[in-house]
Amino acid sequence: MKTPSHTPRSPHLFHIPCERRRFLRSLTLASAGFTLPGFLAEALGITPLVTQGPYYPLSDDIPLDKDNDLVQVNDRLTLATGVITHVTGRVLDANGNPVRNALVELWHADHEGDYLYSAGVGRNAACDASFAGIGQFLTGSSGAFRFRTIKPGLYVGRTRHFHWGVTLPGRTTRSSAQTGWNETAYANNGSVWATQNANDNVFASVTAAQRTSLLLDFAVVAGSTTGEVQATWDFVSGFTPVEPTYPGGGSLTVAGTLVAGPAGGAPRYRLTVPAYANYTYEVYGNPTLADLNWKALPLSLSATGSLDRHQHTATTEGTLDLYVEAKAERGAYQVSFRVPGANTGTP
Ligand SMILES: [Fe+2]
Repeated sequence: MKTPSHTPRSPHLFHIPCERRRFLRSLTLASAGFTLPGFLAEALGITPLVTQGPYYPLSDDIPLDKDNDLVQVNDRLTLATGVITHVTGRVLDANGNPVRNALVELWHADHEGDYLYSAGVGRNAACDASFAGIGQFLTGSSGAFRFRTIKPGLYVGRTRHFHWGVTLPGRTTRSSAQTGWNETAYANNGSVWATQNANDNVFASVTAAQRTSLLLDFAVVAGSTTGEVQATWDFVSGFTPVEPTYPGGGSLTVAGTLVAGPAGGAPRYRLTVPAYANYTYEVYGNPTLADLNWKALPLSLSATGSLDRHQHTATTEGTLDLYVEAKAERGAYQVSFRVPGANTGTP
């Protein structure tokens, strides 16, 4: 929603801490919910879902550094070009309750209007090498997320916009939304851009009330000497997460830890989950452009062992480490676990 529903925050809280990867350190339980018909969704202020667009990065394009700071890639000394822009908000369900462990993704064009995406292997060479292109945040119990990025450049056919993806715990499909700027769009050379909010095909596809909720007012961060701006936006989901309870089984959203793989092979992500004896585990990977749905990944029980299985049945209680190849899928994962004899194949 455009109107901030938070307690106002002091500017320093918008600063991204140095421990840039710490946010990806939690996991949760959940399963699928339901959605609401359109008119009721609008009445409840549910965020309208729009096209994901063609530029969600392919898995080979996604940098290993894809935390919530898009302004810096790894330890590069050069920051991304563009006006530093902060967005904070919360993921809420249709009743206004914060959603814990929702995966929030933000991707958009660089200062010149170029996406990280490229149709071939590797990132788009025209895209600012210091711009991460995509970031992720896994919400905590408050449902809050935050990103530091840049004000995106413009490309032909669209006005200025962010792309958002939100995957609720227990769901295997990303919900796609877009937000814009509640202002006239000017090109980098100062000319008025041809496509404004009023004639942008995405923002024209939703109702006036919904459009108002998506066009954000960015304010200069108090005390900023470089013109950094900030806005607050809540993603209100029409889906209701349902927390599964042991021993019923369910799925965990897990942030993997990057580890070395076998000699000469790709690195891997280690996923540490609670082990329940005789439960069968599967790992589902982050979707890419071609497929909105998460898919089952081959896994190993060690960092260097062969990726020779899609399931593993735990034999003891405690913790379980599962390893998936970082080259194949990157980021957060869903690990499903089921009681013996339960159907398998879907998280
Ligand atoms: Fe776009």
